[in-house]
Amino acid sequence: MDIQKLRQETEADHHNVEDSVPLMHQGLNLAEYVQCLQRLYGVVATWEERAAEIGPEWLQPSLLTRQRRPLLELDLAWFGVAEKNDGRPMLPEMNSLPGLLGTMYVMEGSTLGGQLIARHVEVALHLGEGQGSSYFRGHGSQTGPMWKEFCEMLKLRIPDEQTDAVVVSAKAMFRTFWMWMQRKSAMDGS
Ligand code: HEM
Repeated sequence: MDIQKLRQETEADHHNVEDSVPLMHQGLNLAEYVQCLQRLYGVVATWEERAAEIGPEWLQPSLLTRQRRPLLELDLAWFGVAEKNDGRPMLPEMNSLPGLLGTMYVMEGSTLGGQLIARHVEVALHLGEGQGSSYFRGHGSQTGPMWKEFCEMLKLRIPDEQTDAVVVSAKAMFRTFWMWMQRKSAMDGS
């Protein structure tokens, strides 16, 4: 699996999702932040559920330790928000391994930017450490090692000739995420 190619081919998609969230804006206010968390809940919960449903046995422990839906629930509870966003985006096809791991690349990669976002929102919104920012803090000091481990797993499990299938899936997931955050996503009726 050529991770460098995956990174290069999805660079523009990453810029688009970065621009679709106000999280790093200087003037970010609490209402915008909480709205963003509610919206994120829809895509994160839907992806984590689907991945757990269809992921192969060997991937299950990793899916479990990487779950971030409980962190979003903690944050929403911290802000006293009982109403989560129950909408569910229509996810890309994830039944093949390259399909699943392409979408997982997007979800896991978002933990990297999350480290910057956590620091920014804690200062901008005067949040205590992890109080309302636990989703972005995510795996904390384990973020780097866990990302490395994920990349190693991609290299091990995906042969070179399937790189393009992973790229297609990652691009589709970035697009789903982007549309969802802009409230333009198709809803999954299931
Ligand atoms: C304001 C929002 C965001 C910022 C500031 C941001 C920032 C970053 C940064 C700095 C990195 C590189 C970290 C490193 O190399 O150590 C990164 C990587 C990544 N981010 Fe984001 N990000 C944001 C949102 C997102 C979102 C919403 C997603 C997914 C939907 C995402 C997916 C990824 C992926 C897949 C990578 C890994 C790229 C690679 O090295 O292969 N990011 N992000």
